[in-house]
Amino acid sequence: MDASSEPTPAISSIRSQLAHIFAQHGGDLYGGESVTQLDHALQAAQLAQQQDRPASEIVSALLHDVGHLLHDLGDDCAQRGIDDTHEEAGAAWLIAEHAFPPCVTEPIRLHVPAKRFLCAVDAGYHAELSPASQLSLSLQGGPFTELEVAAFRETPYSEAAVRLRRWDDLAKVPGQDTPPLEHFLAMIDSSLLNPQ
Ligand SMILES: [Fe+2]
Repeated sequence: MDASSEPTPAISSIRSQLAHIFAQHGGDLYGGESVTQLDHALQAAQLAQQQDRPASEIVSALLHDVGHLLHDLGDDCAQRGIDDTHEEAGAAWLIAEHAFPPCVTEPIRLHVPAKRFLCAVDAGYHAELSPASQLSLSLQGGPFTELEVAAFRETPYSEAAVRLRRWDDLAKVPGQDTPPLEHFLAMIDSSLLNPQ
């Protein structure tokens, strides 16, 4: 990434639209947790960066819950028994509106299946989930069956989705210091949007 180079008008527009969405909805509580949507996004991206993952995975972590910011169902919709299918909505929106590539959008689309996968293959995982995450799991279909586990392993970007899932689960620390949103938005550039 070269954050110092001048972004094209198209890249600037994507960054400012995303900044606008976070400015409008990022202060909402992250459903049932004690951090805001913006805090959660920044912490997830910070964890990806701390593990030296590529920009595509850092941006994926930043935007993994953008689907929660695109609807008016309320930040407590899971508590009201509604699955907002934010993983599908967020990935579809990032593709349709901004032509993000699969290396960014597929881990996002798969981060809920990754939770169902981990519940099936990691005996201690379910107990470590927050109560809100356990509640949404039941709305999302519960742990995968053996067949679903096998199919998930064969799905492109499933390993990136599992990494994203782990950051998602950890990115709920009240008061955690993170880089600002602009730091991560600067990673959205031509090379990210047009990977070789
Ligand atoms: Fe999340």
